[in-house]
Amino acid sequence: MKITAFAGSNSSTSINKQLVSYTASLFNELDTQVLDLNDFELPLYSVDIENKNGVPQTAVDFSNILKESDLLIISLAEHNGAYAAVFKNLFDWLSRVEGTKGFHNKPIFLMATSPGARGGSSVLEIANNRLQFNDGNILDSYSLPSFSTNFNKESGITDVALKAELASKIQNIKSQLKY
Ligand SMILES: Cc1cc2nc3c(=O)[nH]c(=O)nc-3n(C[C@H](O)[C@H](O)[C@H](O)COP(=O)(O)O)c2cc1C
Repeated sequence: MKITAFAGSNSSTSINKQLVSYTASLFNELDTQVLDLNDFELPLYSVDIENKNGVPQTAVDFSNILKESDLLIISLAEHNGAYAAVFKNLFDWLSRVEGTKGFHNKPIFLMATSPGARGGSSVLEIANNRLQFNDGNILDSYSLPSFSTNFNKESGITDVALKAELASKIQNIKSQLKY
């Protein structure tokens, strides 16, 4: 079981990266990688750039990483109620890689967190509705509200009910993946 986790953020202090790293660790799977989108620099998607130079190798490389994974854990930053630009840009390039609509029919655990009480629920809803059309197989989703109140670096999620909810979703995903 190869798990690939990343946040839809390019912040060096990303709370979504903290959440996704913590969640990935709870799967207790040796073959787990947490990626940082800052390591996958891509030009801003443009039809003109694509027509001139094709799809950047970085997008092809990222797409291959997804293809070789058995589970994707993605936690999305919410910017103005939608995807952060870095994720939307990656998503657009991934959808232009030959032979895929983006997510290779991979099982996905979709997440979001934000400093506010809605926990990124707008971007989560957008992605929940969309990724299926780009061959994403969303097994479950989870939102962590009020990040700084409910999470700390030492213990992870501190709120008992929210922690239990995440544990139950991980169990649900594991049973869907039959391991
Ligand atoms: C341009 C911008 C727009 C934002 N819009 C929202 C928003 O619509 N909803 C929300 O809950 N938080 C919003 N935030 C706050 C982000 O949730 C917060 O910056 C969070 O830390 C982003 O996740 P990250 O740390 O993983 O990048 C916004 C932040 C920025 C910089």
